[in-house]
Amino acid sequence: RSIMAINSLPTRPVIISTDPGIDDAVAISLALFSDDIDVKLICPIAGNVDLKKTTYNVQRLLTFLEKEVPVVPGSSSPLLRVSKDASNVHGESGMDGFNFPNPTITPVVTKTAVQAMHETVLTSSTPVTLVGIGPLTDIALYLHLYPQDKERIHEIVLMGGALGRGNFGVLSEFNFGVDPEAAKIVFNSNISIRMAPMEIGRQAKIMPNTSEKIKSLGKIGEMFYSLFAHYRGGSFSKGLNMYDVLALGLILKPEMFEIEPTYVSIETQGTLTGGASLIDLKGYLGKESNAKVATEVDAEQFEKWFTEMVAKTI
Ligand code: RIB
Ligand code: CA
Repeated sequence: RSIMAINSLPTRPVIISTDPGIDDAVAISLALFSDDIDVKLICPIAGNVDLKKTTYNVQRLLTFLEKEVPVVPGSSSPLLRVSKDASNVHGESGMDGFNFPNPTITPVVTKTAVQAMHETVLTSSTPVTLVGIGPLTDIALYLHLYPQDKERIHEIVLMGGALGRGNFGVLSEFNFGVDPEAAKIVFNSNISIRMAPMEIGRQAKIMPNTSEKIKSLGKIGEMFYSLFAHYRGGSFSKGLNMYDVLALGLILKPEMFEIEPTYVSIETQGTLTGGASLIDLKGYLGKESNAKVATEVDAEQFEKWFTEMVAKTI
């Protein structure tokens, strides 16, 4: 096959809203080295740690990766609620464990993340995929302010929600629990959504043999290994929950997953259940599907794919 034919695979333009965050950092790095994804814009958001830190983390990550992508910071807080961070999982900096270089990449401060999303979608020759791997505040604000852009959005792929018990509240997962109102806006948007709830990130952990393998896969594999040593979402020995990487897997290797079209509703009224994602697999609520939900993942395939993706960064 001619080079043209090989290169003619359509690369997917992508905007990433992210709160790095160690698993975010891994997902962003792998996306940047994928031939099938064209990362047009990265919008740091407050979540795992505050906006200043998540922005700094994107800057120093891109500097280390030697990748030039526009960085436009977004919201420093949820729409209505007071957030709590996850520095206990990702460390004080939000990306503890590796000595990143001082950033040479600077964030754009002359526009908001929402304006940057709008401009990127408007100027893209093909419909854009929005990737949400943090709280959904900026994606919700974007859809609220620019509803006319919906026809130019291919889909939203997100990590969030829980089929059962949560990791933020009894029944809420972190990304949805930090900003339930934003999540509700996104699931009411009528845009095609594919989502990887937290159980998927727990089914497909990075197990010790994979961690050991990637350690010798170039400077990025080495960086991942150093971050893993500080990551508190699981452990080396029991396996590491790389939640956000599963959202990337939905884009690059959907065949690893069982996916079910389902109605998903986000609880925002409950005093104790705010952010709970009611993933109505049995149709109790009698509503049309508004999302395709990953309900299972082949853990072996995931670890093989993950290792191949890290090898691509060499
Ligand atoms: O619940 C896991 C999610 O919360 C991941 O996106 C992690 O980075 C944190 O943002
Ligand atoms: Ca995240």
